Amino acid sequence: MKLILENIEKSFGEKKVLKNSSFIFEKGKIYGLLGRNGAGKTTLFNCISGDLSYDHGKVVLFEEGQSNEEINYSKVGYVFSEPVLPEFLTGYEFLKFYIDINKDKITNLLTINEYFDIIKINEEDRYRLIKGYSHGMKNKIQMVCFLITRPPVILLDEPLTSFDVVVALEIKNLLKKIKTDHIIIFSTHILQLATDLCDELVVLNNGVLEELDSELLKSPEFEEKIMEILKEENYV
Ligand SMILES: Nc1ncnc2c1ncn2[C@@H]1O[C@H](COP(=O)(O)OP(=O)(O)O)[C@@H](O)[C@H]1O
Ligand SMILES: [Mg+2]
Repeated sequence: MKLILENIEKSFGEKKVLKNSSFIFEKGKIYGLLGRNGAGKTTLFNCISGDLSYDHGKVVLFEEGQSNEEINYSKVGYVFSEPVLPEFLTGYEFLKFYIDINKDKITNLLTINEYFDIIKINEEDRYRLIKGYSHGMKNKIQMVCFLITRPPVILLDEPLTSFDVVVALEIKNLLKKIKTDHIIIFSTHILQLATDLCDELVVLNNGVLEELDSELLKSPEFEEKIMEILKEENYV
């Protein structure tokens, strides 16, 4: 399975955010999308998920044994940096609802409590309103959605930024466990997170995607080199 971006262009008014971005993401890897604030990471994710229309180009999902199709939202699990969840439901009610509306897409359904166990939300919190959840807990609830429906492409927009170290480690392990069946792209402006978690690093630099040599990841000069690349950018 491959996610193919072909010459994606996206402008907001005069401002070109994505300029001819092309890239091929492959199944089984966690990609770190690295870019400074305002580089266009969220915009790129919105284009991939279909939440935003782009001006030019194509996003194609190639799945073995199926025809190449332009991607549609049902193939993408998207964890937003600002979680969007119904605050008037309890976590338990929300998961029940989510499972109900996605019944036809789910294979290997677990019980709601088993899902809560996986993301380590404790028993009493399961029956509290989402309104009272912390940012990190809301992010976990968003993540459990893709554990339930298992969409081929999983986008995580700066998710670990809000987690404490323990939760970040739990989520990291979780992603590593499921990565063989998915294309996972994880955006961050924090180098450390990207190097810890990701198999490949992609820099969004001046509206263009560039892959970093994975050998570079292991080298001691790595941080310096990335800083150089990011500094060259011209944010006007
Ligand atoms: N809906 C929008 N309308 C106008 N400008 C936008 C919109 N969304 C994003 N932008 C601009 O596009 C650029 C990239 O934003 P974004 O994708 O959010 O960056 P990142 O996620 O990398 O921080 C920013 O300059 C931002 O102001
Ligand atoms: Mg963003």
